[in-house]
Amino acid sequence: MDLPVLSAQPTAPTADAADAAAADAVETADAAEQAARPAASALSPSTADPLWWRSAVIYQIYLRSFADGNGDGIGDLAGVRKHLGYLRDLGVDAIWFTPWYESPLADGGYDVADYRTINPAFGDLAEAETLIQEALTLGIRTIVDVVPNHISDQHPWFQAALAAGPGSPERERFWFRPGRGENGDELPTGWVSNFSGETWTRTTNPDGTPGEWYLHLFTPQQPDLNWNHPEVRAEHEAILRFWFDRGVAGVRIDSAALLVKDESLPEVPEHPGPGEHPNQDRDELHDIYRGWRAIADSYPGTRVLVGEIWLPEIDRFAMYLRPDELHTAFNFDFLARPWDAHELRASIDQTLAAHAPVDAPSTWVLSNHDVTRPVTRYGRADSSFAFAKKRVGTPTDLALGRRRARAAALLTAALPGSLYLYQGDELGLPEVEDLPADRLEDPMHFRSGGVDPGRDGCRVPLPWRGVHPPFGFSPREASAEPWLPQPEAWAALTVEAQQSDASSMLWLYRNALRLRRSEPGLGDGPLRWIDGPPGTLAFSRGDRFVSVTNLSTEAVALPEHTAILLSSDPLVGGLLPPDSTAWLRTQLPSPHHTASHHTTERNRQ
Ligand code: GLC
Ligand code: CA
Repeated sequence: MDLPVLSAQPTAPTADAADAAAADAVETADAAEQAARPAASALSPSTADPLWWRSAVIYQIYLRSFADGNGDGIGDLAGVRKHLGYLRDLGVDAIWFTPWYESPLADGGYDVADYRTINPAFGDLAEAETLIQEALTLGIRTIVDVVPNHISDQHPWFQAALAAGPGSPERERFWFRPGRGENGDELPTGWVSNFSGETWTRTTNPDGTPGEWYLHLFTPQQPDLNWNHPEVRAEHEAILRFWFDRGVAGVRIDSAALLVKDESLPEVPEHPGPGEHPNQDRDELHDIYRGWRAIADSYPGTRVLVGEIWLPEIDRFAMYLRPDELHTAFNFDFLARPWDAHELRASIDQTLAAHAPVDAPSTWVLSNHDVTRPVTRYGRADSSFAFAKKRVGTPTDLALGRRRARAAALLTAALPGSLYLYQGDELGLPEVEDLPADRLEDPMHFRSGGVDPGRDGCRVPLPWRGVHPPFGFSPREASAEPWLPQPEAWAALTVEAQQSDASSMLWLYRNALRLRRSEPGLGDGPLRWIDGPPGTLAFSRGDRFVSVTNLSTEAVALPEHTAILLSSDPLVGGLLPPDSTAWLRTQLPSPHHTASHHTTERNRQ
């Protein structure tokens, strides 16, 4: 017989929000809710499943905003350790930490002053090592963020370069250049920053006269490194080993397609051909990542390299995923697309087709610490995403956005490959768009002259329990407020509130990840499209599992099935309502039956 119908009544939650004990339930694991997991020992590096990363669910922790253990209003390692049981119950395979290193936080930690030291606001190295081991005993691997394109202007290398002056070997690790024009007061190139504005800042000589300029594709506090310099390369290889030695299962590589620059520093051509952009996607990058892959492969178990690669040309993107380079890279095309069946189908097809020749699994990413939260994005007339388009005050239907985000959660969890889940999306947090101006920190906002609302709105500290801020983000006795204020309305979105609500986003994710783990067809493997009504996306995974998403405006009939495993919203009169997804159990196809299904085979493998 089939699994019970789970759509309307998922595994019953037990926590009683009114009970003081419920507060603890937010922090401690409930063994009864455990999905089948590999024994902890199965994760020791030498015996781990070498292909774990092809299907993994990876939860992104933005450390400053996850949980505050010591009451200073800033998330930290102690806070994460306290909630590891929550992550186990959620059913994730790995956690990825955005940069946790020593940093002045000019760009939320993507300005690293010391790659081997934990920011004291978060904890210390010993505690990070403890956390990595504690997580492993719960079956959770750890991925750290490395930032190779640039460093903090407070990093000793950059300080030494400033002090040593023009022509010094210290400056060769960076891109110092004289200015153009008679007095050298014109920028060496007209390259535009990823954070809008200029990419060069002029230095001042020790005698007070204006000096050379240095390159920064992001803020002036993030000078770009010169990857043609052997020491830059050697240092980053040593950093990789440093973290692999501490048991991390992988690294996420920040701005992975930007490292190498054309040394002659030409202007950006109007229509650069493949490999012709002076600071993006240069062919020399592949050699760097082959070196990194050799290091990763020299460790027991599979240590993975995950690239943050924003490239419009998907074939160039896939080149980074050749078997001796990166394992995976974030698929941003899907999150950039609007909530539209044709668009999403095109994105899925294109993604799978591009990954197939290099035999890399695709990744599915609905959001991260840089983009507008899905609940907000999908509630807008234009639900596509682009940094350049972000505007304060765009009208948003959050109820619609929430329905669609639920449907998108099941859709992406059913697609082939690995899945990224950004903290708070499992709670359905919306983007916070009314943060007080004096609390904003994101340089993207300031460098745009305030036109871009910035990324603080998706980085607001998580609500854990209670009915008033800080919602358990900090310990009860804490006097400090969270570093960014939380909306009062988040009382309804706390972990505690959702735990006792079977229809909550949290339970949708828990049930989805539990099923994903137990369904043999989910995760890595082929996908087969099934014909359905216009505006729907239906496909099978394995022999007996079908996922159907309805992006049309009418309720639709479901394909033949024997049980509904899960649905993002209740069915109405047996029909799948608009903006929802259902996961179905289907009959084993009989030999006579197969031909009558109108299916399209995707050639993923
Ligand atoms: C990546 C990070 C982003 C950061 C930028 C510069 O895009 O995800 O948060 O600002 O790199 O390091
Ligand atoms: Ca803290």
